[in-house]
Amino acid sequence: MSYLETYQAARDNPAEFWLGRAALIEWSVVPSLAIAEDAAGNERWFADGVMNTCFNALDRHVRDGRAQQAAIYYDSPVTGAQETITYADLLDRVERAAGGLQHLGVGRGDRVIIYMPMVPEAVIAMLACARLGAIHSVVFGGFAAPELAVRLTDAAPKLLITATCGIEVDRVVHYMPIVDAALELTEATVNHVIVLERPESPLALKAERDLTWRSFMQIGEPAVCTPVAATDPLYILYTSGTTGKPKGVVRDNGGHAVALAWSMSAVYDVKPGDVFWAASDIGWVVGHSYIVYAPLLMGCTTVLYEGKPVKTPDAAAFWRVVSDYRVRVLFAAPTAFRAIRKEDPAGSGLADYDLECLQALFLAGERLDPPTLGWLESLIDCPVIDHWWQTETGWAIAGNPLGIERLEPKPGSATKPLPGYQIEILNPEGLPLPRGEQGAVVIKRPLPPSCLPTLWRDHDRFEAAYFNTFPGYYLTGDGGYVDADGYLFIMGRTDDVINVAGHRLSTGEMEEVVAAHAAVAECAVVGVRDGLKGQVPVGLVVLKDGVEVAKTTIEDELIQQMRAAIGPVASFRRVLVVNRLPKTRSGKILRSTLRAIADGTPYAPPSTIEDPAVLDEMTAVLAQSSSR
Ligand code: COA
Ligand code: AMP
Repeated sequence: MSYLETYQAARDNPAEFWLGRAALIEWSVVPSLAIAEDAAGNERWFADGVMNTCFNALDRHVRDGRAQQAAIYYDSPVTGAQETITYADLLDRVERAAGGLQHLGVGRGDRVIIYMPMVPEAVIAMLACARLGAIHSVVFGGFAAPELAVRLTDAAPKLLITATCGIEVDRVVHYMPIVDAALELTEATVNHVIVLERPESPLALKAERDLTWRSFMQIGEPAVCTPVAATDPLYILYTSGTTGKPKGVVRDNGGHAVALAWSMSAVYDVKPGDVFWAASDIGWVVGHSYIVYAPLLMGCTTVLYEGKPVKTPDAAAFWRVVSDYRVRVLFAAPTAFRAIRKEDPAGSGLADYDLECLQALFLAGERLDPPTLGWLESLIDCPVIDHWWQTETGWAIAGNPLGIERLEPKPGSATKPLPGYQIEILNPEGLPLPRGEQGAVVIKRPLPPSCLPTLWRDHDRFEAAYFNTFPGYYLTGDGGYVDADGYLFIMGRTDDVINVAGHRLSTGEMEEVVAAHAAVAECAVVGVRDGLKGQVPVGLVVLKDGVEVAKTTIEDELIQQMRAAIGPVASFRRVLVVNRLPKTRSGKILRSTLRAIADGTPYAPPSTIEDPAVLDEMTAVLAQSSSR
């Protein structure tokens, strides 16, 4: 079937289309229902199906002849470790970890927080939760204690699994002080902390609370899979919203497994046995979907890389990994290649490696800027594909589906909506815009399998954030347009979310941190363009009258405050003390206007502005802060 035929089949009869795809996974009870409404009126996929995600990712492959195939290639340039873990070995370790969880009282529906670096034990912990029907919530290692605490409070886990440290190039990030601080801050009662000891940071256990990973792996009996309803949550992944409180995106088991298994063939064109490398982190959705679940559901080998695109040890690191492990598909963020390009503009690092194995390079996390696309195309001999997605969906919304039909690409476009997604562009009144006109990018209901059914214990926020603006449509939060040929161009967020080095962050949350400083009267945080990271946050602050401290002191304090509150991942390194901010006559800060100025996108000064002259001041100030 062509792309168009597949797209139309999914649009015209989603139930039949997805029930057909459900056969890609193995069910304990095969679903008869594709899509059904739950009590809250949300569509739920495969509601009467029963299955287990871990069984589909491991057990059935071992049973069906993949026992000795590599499931994971672990490669850690920061420690020098390299390890091949077969499907049989991974299953054995996951069974024991699940046994440990069971012994500690974790069962179906219980939550487990995983705060770990990129080590195999993190993947084992995730799969062990899935095996028992427990719900994992992985927290990215670059977040500080208060961020971990917020997630602990919201998820209320029975257990926390961590390691003694992560390693950032050559800087050891000691996790235990962060974990201890978070456990002090949280309202949640966590019964046990499992700690993986790494040689770079020694273990100092708290006797009552902590257990080593080694003893954890021995305390229980190997656990079998618990069959769960397709609609049971597999995980919660917190992502930035527009306020200080992150959104707990819930992912179900059945729809997720079906959509991900299908995406491996339809979007990425890989087969069982192929090597797939998502150069992301398990703390982000890309890591959940394409380091852990999708490659294993497909019977592929996944690469788990604990390193950076540059400096571990050099700008050829990605090429080395592709060549060493014969990677067929690489998935990364454009910012990673901008970092490589900066250090090795001529791409001379490629010369030492054989990249013939590489069939496609997929990019996401931010728009693939045409200069980076052009640079990559001049260096490597395979399709370079931009595809657009979000934590909320778990897989791509738009892209070039290589396994269905390779569409003619257009630079700057994420190509076309993938089967299952009906994208429309609406104006502020909710009316469809003609081709070529920019507006809010929305997805018509029903959303396909894997998309979030709710936010963890906050269904009202789910409705308010995604569905109340345009009833019948899911609000993506991105702006963009569809051109005359049906190609989608995503132009950036229309809310207070920014993308920094492929990481999604909330300027609203950062404003709360800045506003908490005693000397700050009012503030705004906006994302300005950055040649490497895409966007970086810049704080604009107005000081309280009579504050006698040097500007540089305040700036340093705010930068440190942000590191302590959100974490180094915020990349908050620039604060500008200004005399005033643009406001309406009623005193509301004009954040969307500031955003447009920072982005360099055209805007019409609102008629309600107090003093239009301030806009020129802001343009001058922000121009100094952006590197284009
Ligand atoms: N644990 C602890 N700290 C972390 C961390 C982690 N897992 N990840 C990042 N940090 C820290 C960094 O060490 C850095 O700290 P510093 O301020 O002390 O230098 C800070 O957070 C900012 O990190 P980052 O934004 O990643 O900047 P960088 O300069 O270290 O690296 C890139 C720049 C482009 C190389 C890097 O951001 C990168 O590889 N990006 C790709 C991201 C990606 O794959 N995203 C997934 C979407 S598909
Ligand atoms: P996250 O939920 O962290 O995956 O971030 C999702 C957001 O990243 C989207 O809403 C977009 O703003 C942005 N994004 C991801 N992929 C792309 C892409 N290919 N093109 C443009 N923006 C993207």
